Amino acid sequence: MRIMHLGVIAALLSTPIWAADTEIEITPLPEGSVNSEDGLAAWDRIYQVTSHPRCSNCHVGASNVPMWSGPSYGGKPRPHGMNVNAGESRIGAEYVLCSTCHAYREVTGTRLPHAAPQVAADWRLAPVEAEWFGKSSDYICAQLRDPARNGDRSYLDVAAHLEHDVILHWAWDPGAKREPAPFSLQEHVNDILAWGAAGMPCATD
Ligand code: HEC
Ligand code: HEC
Repeated sequence: MRIMHLGVIAALLSTPIWAADTEIEITPLPEGSVNSEDGLAAWDRIYQVTSHPRCSNCHVGASNVPMWSGPSYGGKPRPHGMNVNAGESRIGAEYVLCSTCHAYREVTGTRLPHAAPQVAADWRLAPVEAEWFGKSSDYICAQLRDPARNGDRSYLDVAAHLEHDVILHWAWDPGAKREPAPFSLQEHVNDILAWGAAGMPCATD
């Protein structure tokens, strides 16, 4: 099976310009074709991505408070300024909507340092079950392979989700002096596919 997703299609659907030239290929590997050692090595790279500020700042738990962390914020990780709280809605419906400041805009000005990222109309916190901020590799590994906590996704669904989500394309090309997530989106997708073909091993197995 070979599924090709072309950036061209994304462009036609008028996704943001910086996603348009990113062509991601999802080529599943035969189940069992990756041994668990290589699967665990793929997991280690996946963890470097999921624990990176470009991902974990939104993947926070029941505090409902997004984080500001990473080199561009200087100093220690801190809660999002201006008392922002996403509430249980995870979009700030109970307080101030995330879209008030994070509305989608196709202008380069929003990529100035310390400007709010404005890359997706539905900018919001990840589901509370997908809490990654400050969590260990073992914890995130167990979460990401647990359908009850990962939005009922197989690893192939996870790979497809990564391709489709414009926020993810932003994380590897954030501009505004923000540090991109490590590796590349394509390498991350490949690692998910390798980890999956190895049976989604975790170090705790
Ligand atoms: C703007 C906030 C935001 C950022 C930044 C973000 N995510 Fe997410 N993430 C979400 C939301 C919202 C969902 C739920 C989407 C859905 O279920 O359709 C989600 C769901 C996911 C899922 C689905 C599986 C699960 O465990 O819930 C994966 C995988 C994922 N994100 C990976 C990433 C990675 C990798 C990065 C960084 C490269 C990242 N995300 C950065 C908001 C974010
Ligand atoms: C009053 C305006 C405002 C509101 C409302 C707001 N934000 Fe932000 N947000 C910002 C600004 C400005 C930044 C960038 C700050 C900087 O770089 O110093 C930011 C940055 C972020 C970041 C860090 C992105 C990164 O990795 O660098 C996340 C995550 C985030 N916001 C999530 C949210 C969520 C979720 C909501 C809704 C609950 C929300 N924000 C509501 C203004 C806002």
